[in-house]
Amino acid sequence: ANEDVPYDKTIDNTVTLLKEGYLFIPNRIRQYQSNLFETRLLGQKVICMSGKEAAELFYDSKRFQRHGALPKRIQKTLFGENAIQTMDGEAHHHRKQLFLSLMTEVNQKQLAELVTTEWTNSIRKWENDKEVILFDEAKDILCRVACQWAGVPLKDSEVKERANDFIAMVYAFGAVGPQHWKGRNARRQIEDWMKGIIEDVRDGKLSAKEGSVLYEMAFYDQEDHRHLDSHMAAVELINVIRPIVAIATFITFSALALHEHPSYKEKLQQGNSDDCHFFIQEVRRYYPFGPFLGAKVKNEFVWNQCEFKKGMLVILDVYGTNHDRQLWENPNEFNPERFKTWNNSLFDLIPQGGGEAATGHRCPGEGITIEVMKASLDFLVNKIEFDVPNQDLSYDLSEMPTLPKSGFMMNNIKRK
Ligand code: HEM
Repeated sequence: ANEDVPYDKTIDNTVTLLKEGYLFIPNRIRQYQSNLFETRLLGQKVICMSGKEAAELFYDSKRFQRHGALPKRIQKTLFGENAIQTMDGEAHHHRKQLFLSLMTEVNQKQLAELVTTEWTNSIRKWENDKEVILFDEAKDILCRVACQWAGVPLKDSEVKERANDFIAMVYAFGAVGPQHWKGRNARRQIEDWMKGIIEDVRDGKLSAKEGSVLYEMAFYDQEDHRHLDSHMAAVELINVIRPIVAIATFITFSALALHEHPSYKEKLQQGNSDDCHFFIQEVRRYYPFGPFLGAKVKNEFVWNQCEFKKGMLVILDVYGTNHDRQLWENPNEFNPERFKTWNNSLFDLIPQGGGEAATGHRCPGEGITIEVMKASLDFLVNKIEFDVPNQDLSYDLSEMPTLPKSGFMMNNIKRK
């Protein structure tokens, strides 16, 4: 066996993982002074690994596959069953092209403009509100805008409920009990809704514009030239809309960063696009969102004196790599300037995965995420003034995903 590899010996570490959350892997990487260790999770032996070299290894598709890696409980809440996240090889590549074709720079900008419009339209209402919770506003706005951008009809009266369902899927990730079941129910509701919409488009009962996400999902031809069945088309359509709604988390952390580092407010007011970009990159690096990723060993190999046996589950530490001392100077300091000299590595800043989006599993939505965050940051800094009343802004690293407890409350909001 792997005698030279640290082994975190317990019958099963799943409960501890859920307790330690984002710090489960980093704590042990530090304790063992090793960039990988073995343990048992969900009843099986797994290898946990962290850092840039580990990320490079993880994205080698000759060594790893995704099929069979994602626990069903995650597929039944966050991602949908048998969706793009679980595919490999040519079939994955073909499906990935569909996603990437919808995320062009023009489409990114269009979405960001819709976001700006919605934020601006909210000011009038907020000026009369005693207080506003930024996260709640962001999720509703993003849900409305994501559906509009994708071509999915959504009534005003439906926005809040649908937004809450998308968020429930995301926040079921590390949850057990009621919050997990809430995520499952949310997914069931949203899948039924989207499946109906796909079927209506195919039957000609609902019109969809060629090039829109809705149209392209409904009429996508797989490798075998067949359309996706209506359920799978719905699942993949949700794989575009849900993560756009989830950008609400990063927007809330952006506001927290501004609040905790007010010197950046002035800097950002001057409107230098590099400053804005570095700030957003640092928010995506510093604050916790996706904790880790999993894949299965496809063919046996040895790396760093560790035997990776065929079929073994391997977990890449996303949060820990974004906070790795070997990669980031003072990793636990919020410092956007660090990106002035960053070398654009594909494997060290990995909040949305590593490697190339076109050839691997890296998130196809990074451009969208960055544009939507920039539009939202510009709004917070340059379009409104507000106060931040006393509240609990702490976030718990033992919850995955996490969020400032108050959701970021603002009051005395005025148009600038
Ligand atoms: C994949 C994070 C936004 C669509 C991923 C992965 C991560 C991630 C960690 C997995 C990478 C891997 O498996 O190797 C995030 C975060 C976001 C975000 C933190 C911010 C809210 C978006 C947006 C979209 C999107 C806006 C679409 C518009 C996808 C899809 C995949 C994916 C379809 C699966 C890709 C594949 O398996 O090939 N994302 N994402 N994400 N993301 Fe995102």
